[in-house]
Amino acid sequence: MGLAKDYDAARRAWREAGFAGLAAALRGRIETIARKRRLRRELGEIRRKDSLQDKFSTIYAGQFWQDDKYQGVAARTGKGIDSVSGSGSSSWYTPIYVEELRRFLSGPAREIVGADGDIRIFDAPCGDMQWIEPIAFAPGIRYSGGDIVPDLMAALQRKYAGRDVDLLVFDITRDAFVEADIWHVRDCHIHLSFDNIVRSLENFAASTVPYVLMTTYPTEDGFTNKDIFDGNFRRLDFRKAPFGFDAPILSLRDYPDDMGFPPRHMALYSREMIRTYLDRMKRG
Ligand SMILES: C[S@@+](CC[C@H](N)C(=O)[O-])C[C@H]1O[C@@H](n2cnc3c(N)ncnc32)[C@H](O)[C@@H]1O
Repeated sequence: MGLAKDYDAARRAWREAGFAGLAAALRGRIETIARKRRLRRELGEIRRKDSLQDKFSTIYAGQFWQDDKYQGVAARTGKGIDSVSGSGSSSWYTPIYVEELRRFLSGPAREIVGADGDIRIFDAPCGDMQWIEPIAFAPGIRYSGGDIVPDLMAALQRKYAGRDVDLLVFDITRDAFVEADIWHVRDCHIHLSFDNIVRSLENFAASTVPYVLMTTYPTEDGFTNKDIFDGNFRRLDFRKAPFGFDAPILSLRDYPDDMGFPPRHMALYSREMIRTYLDRMKRG
C-alpha cells in the first residue's frame, strides 16, 4: 500500500515537473520518514519515564515540541515553531487569542470575578511564557505562572528576575493552587491521560480559585475523546464523554486563520460547574 502510493506519487511528480519534480518528491518522502522515526523514538522515550515531571522535563530538554514533526506545520504554513512549548505557542499561532484574552481580561472578566483592583491570573502551565508575556505584565493584571519542569521555571525566574511576577514549579494534578481569580490552563490537558485530567480538575475544585479558562475543541464531527499516555497529544472536546460538560459561560477563540488548524477555544467555567461535572462523572 505504502509502496504503491509512493510509486504513484513519483510517477505524478515526474510527469508534472520532470527530474526536478521527482527529486523534490523524493526529498519530501525522505523527510517524512525521518520525521515519523523521530516522533516514534521520542514518544518511546517519554513513555518510558515514570513521573510526569520526568516526562515533561525530557520533552523540554530535548526540545521535542520545537521540532516540526507532529503536524508538518512548517510544510503546511511555511513557518517555523519558535517556542519550546510547541506550535500552538508560536508567535504566528497566538495573535488572535492574545487579543481575545486581552479584551476579556480588561472587560468581561473583571465583572464576572468582581475584581475592583488587579485581576489575578494563575497561568499553569505557563510554558515558556513567550506569547503571554505582554499580558502578564500589562497594567491591571497580577500574573502568577507555574509549570512542572524545574529547568524551565529556573530559566523564567532568571529572565524575569526583579519583575513583579510569581513563578513556581507547579504540578496541576497535585500542588495546592495559589490564590487567584482565574486558572488559565491552555494546551495542557491535551497532553495528559484521562486520570490526570480528572486529578487536575479535582485539585482545582478543591481550591479557592473561582474560575477556569481551559482549552477545548468544540467538534461537531464523529470525533471522540481518546485516552493517551501522559506526554503524548490528542484533541479534546470537554462536552463529550468521558467528561460531558455543559456549554461554558463563554468561549474565547484560540486558533489562527487559514492555516488548516482545527477550531478550538478557551472555555470559561466556574469552580461550581466543574464540581458538578466531576460529581456527574463519578455517578456515571
Ligand atoms: C504545550 S505547552 C503549553 C504552555 C502554555 N500554556 C502555552 O499556552 O504556551 C504544555 C506545558 O504543560 C506543562 N505540563 C505538563 N503537565 C503538567 C502538569 N501536570 N502540571 C504543570 N505543568 C504541566 C509542560 O511542561 C509544558 O510546558
